[in-house]
Amino acid sequence: MEFFLDTANLDELRKGVSWGIVDGVTTNPTLIAKEGKPFEEHIREICEIVDGDISAEVVATDSAGMISQGKELAKIHKNVVVKCPLTRDGIMATSALSKEGIRVNVTLCFSPGQALLAAKAGAYIVSPFVGRLDDIGYTGMELIRSIVQIYKNYGYKTKVLAASLRSPTHVIDSALAGADIGTMPFKVLDMLFNHPLTDKGLDQFLKDWAKVFQETPVAG
Ligand code: G3P
Repeated sequence: MEFFLDTANLDELRKGVSWGIVDGVTTNPTLIAKEGKPFEEHIREICEIVDGDISAEVVATDSAGMISQGKELAKIHKNVVVKCPLTRDGIMATSALSKEGIRVNVTLCFSPGQALLAAKAGAYIVSPFVGRLDDIGYTGMELIRSIVQIYKNYGYKTKVLAASLRSPTHVIDSALAGADIGTMPFKVLDMLFNHPLTDKGLDQFLKDWAKVFQETPVAG
């Protein structure tokens, strides 16, 4: 499964990239607004930090506006993936942009039927939101499982990006469900490292080593 960071914070992106495990970035208007910088310049900076798909979302609500914004966003960098919401206009824009070879991530997907619409419109990525479904009493992960199965049944090439992941368990369950990509806040990526037995084991290894050797095995 590809790991994307769901953040527009440049420090978090630099840190994730330094670990060598970040394949791409998803942003949305909320995340961009939080950083308070000019949009295009900010996306360009993200593209310089992360060598992978970078989702940038349109804010128009009519298809003509989304198409025009999408074309401008796609010009920023070859790695930009245009994000359109799963509305009637969003699907129209997805179809038009996809036909022109512009890659679209259809966002705010909350049902398997909506995911079918995204695939039929030629979306490069569909983003079902797990945590926000959990918030209203559904099992968000069921949506990931259904979409993966439906796309498999018909050979749709649209990638399933599990979004709104709030915990390491969400990431693991998305991988078990067969999601192509999991996008997560930096905090969740960081938490994936943690295991008390790793810390305990390393502590013991180093103590045992130090009982016998005074130096490290190789000079460094
Ligand atoms: O970026 C889309 C999605 O991942 C946002 O997640 O946690 O705000 O529901 P959340």
